Amino acid sequence: MAYRSASEEYGKVNSDARELAASFNLEKLTPEFYANPYPTYRALRENEPVKRLPNGSYFLTRYDDLVAAYKSTKVFSSDKKKEFSPKYGDSLLYEHHTTSLVFNDPPAHTRVRRLIMGALSPRAIAEMEPDLIALVDRLLDGLANKAKVDLIEDFACAIPIQVIGNLLDVPVDEREPLRDWSLAILGALEPVIGAEVFARGNKAVKDFLAYLEILVERRRAKPGNPQHDVLTRLIQGEDNGERLTSKELLHNCIFLLNAGHETTTNLIGNGLVALSEHPTEKARLIENQTLIKTAVEEMLRFESSNQLGNRMTVEPVELGGVAMPAGTPVTLCIGAANRDPAQFADPEKLDIGRTPNRHLAFGTGAHQCAGMALARLEGAIAISRFLARFPDYALSGEPVRGGRVRFRGFLSVPCVVS
Ligand code: HEM
Repeated sequence: MAYRSASEEYGKVNSDARELAASFNLEKLTPEFYANPYPTYRALRENEPVKRLPNGSYFLTRYDDLVAAYKSTKVFSSDKKKEFSPKYGDSLLYEHHTTSLVFNDPPAHTRVRRLIMGALSPRAIAEMEPDLIALVDRLLDGLANKAKVDLIEDFACAIPIQVIGNLLDVPVDEREPLRDWSLAILGALEPVIGAEVFARGNKAVKDFLAYLEILVERRRAKPGNPQHDVLTRLIQGEDNGERLTSKELLHNCIFLLNAGHETTTNLIGNGLVALSEHPTEKARLIENQTLIKTAVEEMLRFESSNQLGNRMTVEPVELGGVAMPAGTPVTLCIGAANRDPAQFADPEKLDIGRTPNRHLAFGTGAHQCAGMALARLEGAIAISRFLARFPDYALSGEPVRGGRVRFRGFLSVPCVVS
């Protein structure tokens, strides 16, 4: 190989990064990108932080630009009716996503969010802790007797589905289809989808609605305690008479079940894989369990389970020095912003004691994640108890990635626990 001087080497790295940024297209991603998107995110942040994509949308990678977009709800709209109409046509998928609070602006958003936040009160979440600990310990007991464990199938994904199931009081023997419905509906949010993914997503909304109609009917006939049961609370509405319409109720229940599912599974799975790849940090956490809170924040930052957010400009605006007309779709890359050196010291390093750590894994502003306290609790209990029980766990094969750009996680992680 020809010898290159240090400055030539530096120049080559820079030109590679420029090329990586110049050729980036969210609609044509490579297997290398799915395996590790961070070199591309870095190249974009450094060379084209407000990147115009071939389809006319912009892709943002700087922390400050994301915060600016998240905070100006009036200019950067979350309403997806225009964007989703060509993607989903007149379908149940369209009805579902455009009725979910996350894809609406005030005043519809404010009303639905108030009802949901009321139901996810700190008290309601704190009361879930004993059941959560018992659930995690039961799962750990099950792992202890297995020669081969799949961290996702046998552990990470079993937790959120039961937690959200408990939150809405879905009978335990009726929870089995929830995971597949949720994966199918969220899978249809990928930037490009084929006919099969669309059909799967649409059928999942249909089946989910049919199931929830029965569940809601039963709950109307026999209400639960609104202090504990989120579904009863959403049905009954606020004391001031504010209520969800029945369409809003059903679609936002689906949204809640979905929002709290894959994301939290990925927090637990990504966290345990990251620790196994960083043995010093793993040993540090095992030695000092009080670090679990900052460790969970760092896992959220380092491998954010939700990597992309979307907005549409509703009036002309300048962002990061680029003028955008009204009607410009913008993608907010949380995964890139969470490794921006302008905000985080040594951002490519996993540091489980990192403070401050103002990551954007839950977004920020009016749409900031309504379930973040619950996600943090699930992450802390699942990861700390797993480590305490199986400090010597080790991966025993190649983890299989979910193959999605928006939701970053694993489908399967083979592992031995003792
Ligand atoms: C690690 C786990 C989680 C992550 C990374 C996550 C991430 C996010 C992000 C980034 C948003 C903002 C979307 C936007 O502004 O466009 C969001 C919104 C939301 N999340 Fe989460 N989430 C998690 C867990 C949960 C859980 C457990 C629940 C419920 C039980 C939940 C319920 C919601 C709701 C209702 C919204 C919509 C809020 C609004 O539009 O006002 N999430 N989440």
